[in-house]
Amino acid sequence: MNEMTQHPDRPLPILTTRKEVVLPGVVTPLEVGRRASIAAVDAAMAEGSNILLVPQVDPRTDVPKPGDLVDVGVLAEIVQIARQSATRYTVIARSSARVHIDKVESVGSYLVGHTSSMATVVPPDVEEADQLVERTRSALAAILAEQADTSPDNVREGLDEVDDPDDLADMAAAHVQLERDELIALLREPDVVARLRMVLPPLERLGQVLKMKGDIREQLVEEMSKEERERVLRQRMKAISEQLGEGDDENELTAYLDKIDQKNMPDEVRKAARKQVKKMRQAGASSPEHNVARTYLEWLLDIPWGETTRDTLDVPAARAILEADHAGLEKVKKRILEFIAVRKLAPDKHGPILCLVGPPGVGKTSLGKSVASALGRKYVRASLGGVRDDAEIRGHRRTYVGALPGRIVNGLKKAGSMNPVFILDEVDKLSNSMRGDPASALLEVLDPEQNSEFVDHYLEVPIDLSQVMFIATANSLETIPSPLLDRMEVIQIPGYTEREKLAIARRHLLPKQMAEHGIERETLDVSDEALMDIIRHYTREAGVRNLEREIGTLCRSAAVELAGGQAPKKLAIGHDDVPGILGPPRFFSEVADSHPTVGVATGLGWMPTGGDLLFIETRQMPGKGDVKLTGQVGDVMEESARAALSWVRSHAEGLGIPSSRFADNDIHVHLPSGGVKKDGPSAGVAIATALVSLLSEVPVRSDVAMTGEVTLRGLVLPVGGIKGKVLAAHRAGIKTVILPERNRKDMADIPDEVQRELEVVFVTRIGEALDVALAGGESVPLAAGGTSAVLPPVAADEVPARRRDAAS
Ligand SMILES: Nc1ncnc2c1ncn2[C@@H]1O[C@H](COP(=O)(O)OP(=O)(O)OP(=O)(O)O)[C@@H](O)[C@H]1O
Ligand SMILES: [Mg+2]
Repeated sequence: MNEMTQHPDRPLPILTTRKEVVLPGVVTPLEVGRRASIAAVDAAMAEGSNILLVPQVDPRTDVPKPGDLVDVGVLAEIVQIARQSATRYTVIARSSARVHIDKVESVGSYLVGHTSSMATVVPPDVEEADQLVERTRSALAAILAEQADTSPDNVREGLDEVDDPDDLADMAAAHVQLERDELIALLREPDVVARLRMVLPPLERLGQVLKMKGDIREQLVEEMSKEERERVLRQRMKAISEQLGEGDDENELTAYLDKIDQKNMPDEVRKAARKQVKKMRQAGASSPEHNVARTYLEWLLDIPWGETTRDTLDVPAARAILEADHAGLEKVKKRILEFIAVRKLAPDKHGPILCLVGPPGVGKTSLGKSVASALGRKYVRASLGGVRDDAEIRGHRRTYVGALPGRIVNGLKKAGSMNPVFILDEVDKLSNSMRGDPASALLEVLDPEQNSEFVDHYLEVPIDLSQVMFIATANSLETIPSPLLDRMEVIQIPGYTEREKLAIARRHLLPKQMAEHGIERETLDVSDEALMDIIRHYTREAGVRNLEREIGTLCRSAAVELAGGQAPKKLAIGHDDVPGILGPPRFFSEVADSHPTVGVATGLGWMPTGGDLLFIETRQMPGKGDVKLTGQVGDVMEESARAALSWVRSHAEGLGIPSSRFADNDIHVHLPSGGVKKDGPSAGVAIATALVSLLSEVPVRSDVAMTGEVTLRGLVLPVGGIKGKVLAAHRAGIKTVILPERNRKDMADIPDEVQRELEVVFVTRIGEALDVALAGGESVPLAAGGTSAVLPPVAADEVPARRRDAAS
């Protein structure tokens, strides 16, 4: 600008500005329309484009005369001119110095001005001037930076080149909005400091406003997270690819990416998921890789990441739910309520992993469901029966064709929450095979140290299982791998007594079956006698599954009758009606019908199906003194049979057995129901009793059942499964049970009604057992009656199809 400030020595044409006040140092467009102005511009152009821009005093004046102009103005150069018409120009002028208008004359149709330069007044207080200059500079820098979207420091460098405070003041003035009067005052003011004082306040105000706006914008940008930015970009991409005709595929991918964003996945998973989308894009829709990536991605999306249900930690409410679903089962219910109470006090503590062990149909699985509803959690069940490959638990690696995640991941997907009650059904039926060890996979799932980062082979991303409440169920403890068992809290459910079954039938099974068959509550009445009849003569089980089935049959027949036209509105089923509906009774008390028999003793076994009578038959035949054991007997049981025999031999004399009996005869010990594997030492007492009976020809009481291990010295050692065994004895109508003395403590678990109806004899030596069991009575010698008096312990149609490992 400085080079232009050379003062003209002749009058110049004046462009009178009506509203605008042009300050020095700006390039500004001016609309020119008045006759005098057009003429002035034409004249200026004719003489080399220099012109004076002078505001008129009163903007309302249409045709200003010399006296109507302000006495200051700026010298300007017309840099461009657009002649829209003869009466309308747009002029771009670059203003340079302010000038004093000494005299205005009319020349033809326009005005010309005689000017003199306006000397800038040197500020008296240099320090104030410096300060003002500095403040102006920094305010300007901030404003320019804000407007140009760069850093104030960059702008500052440019500003530093403007070293003349005069120019700086004008530049500052150009950036603030000032009233016309103020602008004219600025134009008139020769003192730089005075001018800076005038522009600085509005300049700094503007700076602040802009900064505030900038802050807000920045904040918005920051808040617009990476994902959102990507979403915006993706939408643009989608629009582009739609135009390119790749719409559908790209839409699908975009939809996936949106879904990924919406899911509450851990970052690592999100990354893996996005990678799949990339793979799909690269592979193209028709390639097999596309499909593989999609299947995987869908799985990732199906996991309920971060979704949990809120636990109902209301103990009375939970108790009510548990009570409403199941009768009895006090131990389990108590444990669940404890869990809820603890959870309330220490929400972050890992819950227990319960393992419900008991015979079929005692409600293990259905109790799990009830726990879920008591806690207000989702419920899932994975059956582990027959699982022989760890991939079924933990998934196949994706390199396999048709690979899929394992049952745990499947369960989570089904549950739709990360904290369901997860029933691991039949953990005792896991099997080991060449293909890997499912139990060790399960260990990882159940280990609280590891399971917050469970990795399924297929998914390959860690999944947090630590909030899942696992409940395992099993029929037998024996076949549960011990490391697995160590991690679980075992709760035994040994089975129900007749009376408990009656209560369950009355309160749960009958109402449930009636509802299932659409029978109104008031229309059907089944008497207690009828129910008891079903329990005794139509089912033989520790649980209530068959009972429920029979009750179902009963209801079906009742439904048919109730639906029939002339049927009564109300139906009563009593004791006498049962055979008509369910057919002839199927089970009788084995004991009631049998007689004391030589060589046959009633043992008590514990099988996965519950406690049961275990008959021991012995026979002897001419031979060389061998012993043979048959009936699917395991090694341990065989050894305990040999120990029993040795004891009998060594005490033959005292027992009244001629020693020739051993030398000239072979002894065959058979345990009927050969389809069931039997093992364990607990049949010792019964085997010894049967042998003594056989050899001494004293019959064994048929209403006595016994269990216990026998040592070579004749000591009776404690055994497991007492509750189930005693219940089975009670169920079968046994009058007296012989138990090892050291099992006395287990009687605490036995319901009072059973204790009242059963005589229990505790023994420490086999001799005491013999005293009880071999107490005469009417004998049916084996030689005459054979074994026909003894029914097999389990009716054939009741043996579950699945493998049953029996441990006696
Ligand atoms: N105490 C009980 N109160 C009410 N209903 C019960 C009870 N016990 C069992 N049931 C009912 O009996 C049926 C069988 O139970 P469930 O399937 O849970 O047996 P389970 O113990 O899991 O047997 P399995 O070992 O064969 O899997 C269910 O309908 C269940 O509701
Ligand atoms: Mg079950």
